[in-house]
Amino acid sequence: MSSTESWRAEDLESMLRFIDGCCGLSIRADQLSSTAKVLRRAMERWKCVDIDALKKVLTQNPEAMHALVNELTVGETYFFREPKHFQFLQQVVLPETQQRLQGSRPMHIWSAACASGEEAYSLAMLCDRLGYAGWTRIVGTDISHAALVKARQGSYRNWSFRGNALQQAAPYLNPHGEQFTVREEIRRRVNFRYLNLAADYYPAALGDMIPLDLIVCRNVFIYFSTDTIATVARNMFACLDEGGWLITASADPSLADLGPYQVESTELGVFYRKTGAGSPDGTSRAPQVAAGDKTQRAEYAALPEALLPTSRAEPTPSEILRPAAAAPSVTGLPREGAETSPGLPMSPRRAESIRQAVAAAELAYHNEDWARTVAVTETIRDDLAACVLNLQAKARLDAAAALAQFPQDLARHSLSPELHYLYALLLLDTGRIDEAYKSVQRAVFLDRSLAVPHFLLGSIQQQRGQLESAWRHYRNARDLCAALPAGAAVPLGEGGTASELIAAAQERMNRIGTGVK
Ligand SMILES: C[S@@+](CC[C@H](N)C(=O)[O-])C[C@H]1O[C@@H](n2cnc3c(N)ncnc32)[C@H](O)[C@@H]1O
Repeated sequence: MSSTESWRAEDLESMLRFIDGCCGLSIRADQLSSTAKVLRRAMERWKCVDIDALKKVLTQNPEAMHALVNELTVGETYFFREPKHFQFLQQVVLPETQQRLQGSRPMHIWSAACASGEEAYSLAMLCDRLGYAGWTRIVGTDISHAALVKARQGSYRNWSFRGNALQQAAPYLNPHGEQFTVREEIRRRVNFRYLNLAADYYPAALGDMIPLDLIVCRNVFIYFSTDTIATVARNMFACLDEGGWLITASADPSLADLGPYQVESTELGVFYRKTGAGSPDGTSRAPQVAAGDKTQRAEYAALPEALLPTSRAEPTPSEILRPAAAAPSVTGLPREGAETSPGLPMSPRRAESIRQAVAAAELAYHNEDWARTVAVTETIRDDLAACVLNLQAKARLDAAAALAQFPQDLARHSLSPELHYLYALLLLDTGRIDEAYKSVQRAVFLDRSLAVPHFLLGSIQQQRGQLESAWRHYRNARDLCAALPAGAAVPLGEGGTASELIAAAQERMNRIGTGVK
């Protein structure tokens, strides 16, 4: 009996629609049998009696969804894949972008669906070789947490360096036995994040990287349904600066009709570009989409209300207050740039106003002046850092008001693990333990690398008497901290260091007992 035969056709179809809806993956006819097996295994693993139970588990349990995505996607990749693309980047895209930006800001590059990171590191190496390294910011994203963990480790075997890739990468690698580790100076230049291309709205999710000058998104469009391809192409267009480039793989479907891209057909491949100032001949060959014109508005029409750009006025001078010395982020997570009004690049004046207001709020928070922190940030909660400060200060003044405000602010910043974590803390304070558990699970789902939410999951499970699960969460927290320098402050840890959290997690694991694993 083939594995698809154990499925009722309508159940399998319903599961495939569900998967497409969650992560855009379109299962081809030749993948049906293997997909059916993967789904059957998932049902057994999560003890689901029917597909509704499986859908429920996949919706509510991030671990289950991660495992499924990992099994359904192929993370095949290697350094300097499609060398012609790197030639085109070297000869045209990078020098021209440098010229267009004229040092006004760093060049922003996104390796989308980067798998285990080889593509993002290749881009960093190329930028370094061309002398642009110090003036470049690179982000690599993927839906697979397992791939992101490997990407952050930056260690690869020979197989990741096919063709003459090893020759190009060698100056940036440290060999260890059969492995090569990407050198620290390159690893530091690339930031890896979780991002679901089919479900997330990137201008918001990539906040500080917008506008982008280059998106490299290769060998993933092939997995997507036609609808998802169109959505992804449109979202990417919204992320690009005028003159920015989108590079897809030669095996990917054409995007020519899916966005107002200018198509550049060259002997090195077909590339897409958002037209405007900065095109190779200095002219705009395709109609320009001015910010806020009808075409762009039509794109917004399909977005949830919470993601629509606001038309609020600039903060008043009294809101901006005096600029403070660079204060650390209150929660210890890296500070986002001004992340407001997804889709339309913010005016430099407004971005600067918000930056100053956030700095003033950080100072007020540091001085435990909760009322002032709330006042300064109240009208700029579209900015993630302002929103976090606002909610934290409000929680000190009036926990019920902060609790009531959270759902609205989470809708604005639904991809912020920090906000979900803070909401969980507040829910716990008021005894809403089940809701707190779900909220902290969301934080972990959004960023598995954060040790503190894992620790909190451990505490909650311990309180609920779920000792096995608690032990695993503590172990995750411990292992994640072990990857950090001992004295490093742990993100979300309110100043606590990695070694302190390791000791706390280990102590709890010991208390639960070594018999429980
Ligand atoms: C074949 S790899 C491509 C790696 C690299 N871009 C390259 O061309 O070498 C495809 C990657 O797409 C990722 N992926 C699949 N669906 C995705 C989605 N909805 N959002 C983000 N990444 C996705 C998979 O996890 C996998 O790592």
